[in-house]
Amino acid sequence: MAGVRVASDKGVMALVVAVLVMCGGGSVVTPAAAATLVPAVYVFGDSTVDVGNNQYLPGNVLYPLPLPYGMDLPQELRPTGRASNGYNVADAISRLMGFNMSPPAYLSLPPEMNDQILSGFGGVNYGSGDSGILNKTGLNKSMPLAQQVGFFAATKSKMIEHAGDQGTVDEIERRVSESLFFISSGGNDMFEFLKSPVLLFYIQLATNYRKHLNTLYDHGARRFGIVNVPPIGCVPALRNRSDTGACMEFANNLSRNFNDNWLSVVMKNFAADPERPGITYSVGNSYNMITNFTADPEAAGFSEVASACCGDGRLGVNPWCHPGGAVCNNRTDHLYWDLAHSTDAAAHKGAALIFDAPVDWGFAAPINFRQLVSDGFSSI
Ligand SMILES: *[C@@H]1O[C@H](CO)[C@@H](O)[C@H](O)[C@H]1NC(C)=O
Ligand SMILES: *[C@@H]1O[C@H](CO)[C@@H](O)[C@H](O)[C@H]1NC(C)=O
Ligand SMILES: *[C@@H]1O[C@H](CO)[C@@H](O)[C@H](O)[C@H]1NC(C)=O
Ligand SMILES: *[C@@H]1O[C@H](CO)[C@@H](O)[C@H](O)[C@H]1NC(C)=O
Ligand SMILES: *[C@@H]1O[C@H](CO)[C@@H](O)[C@H](O)[C@H]1NC(C)=O
Repeated sequence: MAGVRVASDKGVMALVVAVLVMCGGGSVVTPAAAATLVPAVYVFGDSTVDVGNNQYLPGNVLYPLPLPYGMDLPQELRPTGRASNGYNVADAISRLMGFNMSPPAYLSLPPEMNDQILSGFGGVNYGSGDSGILNKTGLNKSMPLAQQVGFFAATKSKMIEHAGDQGTVDEIERRVSESLFFISSGGNDMFEFLKSPVLLFYIQLATNYRKHLNTLYDHGARRFGIVNVPPIGCVPALRNRSDTGACMEFANNLSRNFNDNWLSVVMKNFAADPERPGITYSVGNSYNMITNFTADPEAAGFSEVASACCGDGRLGVNPWCHPGGAVCNNRTDHLYWDLAHSTDAAAHKGAALIFDAPVDWGFAAPINFRQLVSDGFSSI
């Protein structure tokens, strides 16, 4: 596993170097088109996509997550920043785009970054566990979406500086416009919302989401792959509040209402903004997906969709996943890895549906991720 990863990293690098050499005076080429569907993936969001940023935040004692987190990852990726037994949905989506896994965590990069990233290839992951759409969501030891978007703006400035001549700047702009901007945020905001559900909260979420999208657009983003909010009432931690272990319907309603009446409208309006032409987007429907997996586990290839794989006691949340704690035998037949996060298997299944399932199955709208990136790299 480790050998394969290193080898193909080099493969991509070699291709990029070759392209840069051919590129010379900024002439137009289609770099890495054979290897990947987009030049780069830029990832934003929460613990569903964090691949290690949180461990660099001073005072964040939870990260890196100790074993059994990451137990199914190659040795060199442990201890892990991923809230999973293995890879997460940022990895799974990046793989579908032709990369080995998620791009690296922003805070793991040296200040000078590297030539590949500065040339607009590969991408960066800004995701931060516990963060939300709103600054006030989650622990203060995480990077809210606003900060993540700000770090992308900083990255973009470095890319432009690094480019030098106008021809190369144009190339960078084109690569950014063709890259996938992948956002998975909002679940933690829903947990906050649950404490005091008032209409104003939806308005704040929608307003801020739009603001973050606008900022990304203004720094060159055009292709947006969004994941909506899952039915948070079905995570083991909230099932634990019910005597029967059933999903907490009230919490699911908050998620569904946000997805159907707010987020989808934000995206429609954003894409129709006459001042911001050229936007394409897909919203991956994690709500429908988890609901679908939960309603008929066997059809989806799971045997357990209520209890966490890792953790002790009822539903695996008493106490939650910890070193030396219980781990289920078969990680691929569980939907949930710990009290609130999916297994590697669920992340890969979900990503595959968002990417490829026919739109009328309800797992992505208005197009799926494959359609979102189907234009690939434009040649001019
Ligand atoms: C959220 O934080 C960012 C800095 O990361 C700041 O620029 C912005 O004003 C904050 N937004 C609100 C509503 O406080
Ligand atoms: C789960 O429920 C039990 C019983 O109500 C409670 O004592 C425990 O604190 C809960 N655990 C979590 C992690 O919410
Ligand atoms: C959730 O929403 C459904 C449909 O809108 C409604 O019938 C139900 O009463 C709601 N449940 C709770 C607990 O809010
Ligand atoms: C684990 O579960 C998966 C999915 O249900 C199944 O295909 C596989 O055979 C199981 N593996 C073992 C060792 O039981
Ligand atoms: C889950 O989705 C698949 C694909 O659309 C569908 O065939 C199946 O009936 C769904 N299952 C449930 C329980 O809704």
